[in-house]
Amino acid sequence: MSTQKHYTGLIERYRDRLPVSASTRIISLNEGNTPMIQLQNIPRLIGKDVEIYVKFEGLNPTGSFKDRGMTMAVTKAVEEGSQAIICASTGNTSAAAAAYAARAGIKAFVLIPEGKIAQGKLAQTLMYGAEIIQINGNFDKGMSLVKEIADHAPVTIVNSINPFRLDGQKTAAFEIVDDLGFAPDYHCLPVGNAGNISAYWKGYTEYAVSRVCSTRPVMCGYQAAGAAPFVAGHMIDEPETIATAIRIGHPQSWDFAWAAQKESGGWFDKFTDEQILAAQKMLSQYEGIFCEPASATSLAGALQDIGSGKIPEGSKIVCTLTGNGLKDPDTAISQCAAAHPVTIEASLDAVKRAILDCL
Ligand code: F0G
Repeated sequence: MSTQKHYTGLIERYRDRLPVSASTRIISLNEGNTPMIQLQNIPRLIGKDVEIYVKFEGLNPTGSFKDRGMTMAVTKAVEEGSQAIICASTGNTSAAAAAYAARAGIKAFVLIPEGKIAQGKLAQTLMYGAEIIQINGNFDKGMSLVKEIADHAPVTIVNSINPFRLDGQKTAAFEIVDDLGFAPDYHCLPVGNAGNISAYWKGYTEYAVSRVCSTRPVMCGYQAAGAAPFVAGHMIDEPETIATAIRIGHPQSWDFAWAAQKESGGWFDKFTDEQILAAQKMLSQYEGIFCEPASATSLAGALQDIGSGKIPEGSKIVCTLTGNGLKDPDTAISQCAAAHPVTIEASLDAVKRAILDCL
């Protein structure tokens, strides 16, 4: 008989490192425990002796890393007696908030920038039954409205300014160390509102303090060129990028993220939409891993910095792939326009010809 325990989510797994008690009702969809996949073809292709692992967070229940923070934030909101949660979002937080609210039996309100969230994220949020409030402004505007409204209505904010969000998200760092047996040399990830880089640093630091790992990684935060306040060194008012998930100019975790960069000896950098999309396609076509555009920023950054030697050969690198490619089918399909399928006659001959033409 197997002694394996049924996996019931990251709060149960890391309960002793999270702010829950024995009587807390855990709101979970069995999030976390996502795969670390070692890239096999890309390192060979770039001719560098590096170990690159991707932490594929797109395989969480709602398809992004936001589920880690949301299981904690909604668990705590329910414990505190809250009947409703609210967030501003570029799409993934709204999907996660909506799902965990449905699971808990409470209401979710989400503010999203009209026309600037990917279709899959909108579909999810609608299906989970959240109250969607579209605004004709960007994420930053939505965020400032959410901060104000919480003083006027009985709703709990579940954006990453809610400290329980970062507590949930730090478990990704625990999983990486538990999986590898050590902390990587470099950790590369996309940065938008900057909650995730702050949460990873918190996780690695807690494990290092407890001597679960002896080192912490250098943190590399990568942004979209049109939405790169950390590279500019100041907030940006009109952020723009095809990677709508990280279309953010006024990140809320500004100080935490700078601390992660400074304490780890890391850096921020920025990448054009073309570079981001090229990395997304490369990962799909050479490794069979389909992430959303924002997520591929981590690989775009890692490849550039490996290429220049800033990340030296022999390094062990983890790139977080924050969300699933299925969330944004429009961007994927338009990227592959040249390979658009042609329709042929439904006959054996025609199919045979089509195959032989390609070989
Ligand atoms: N990648 C994806 C797929 C995201 O959805 C986000 C943020 C990030 C990266 C950046 O993470 O904000 O912690 O620096 N999405 C938020 C949202 C803002 O509303 O879904 P961050």
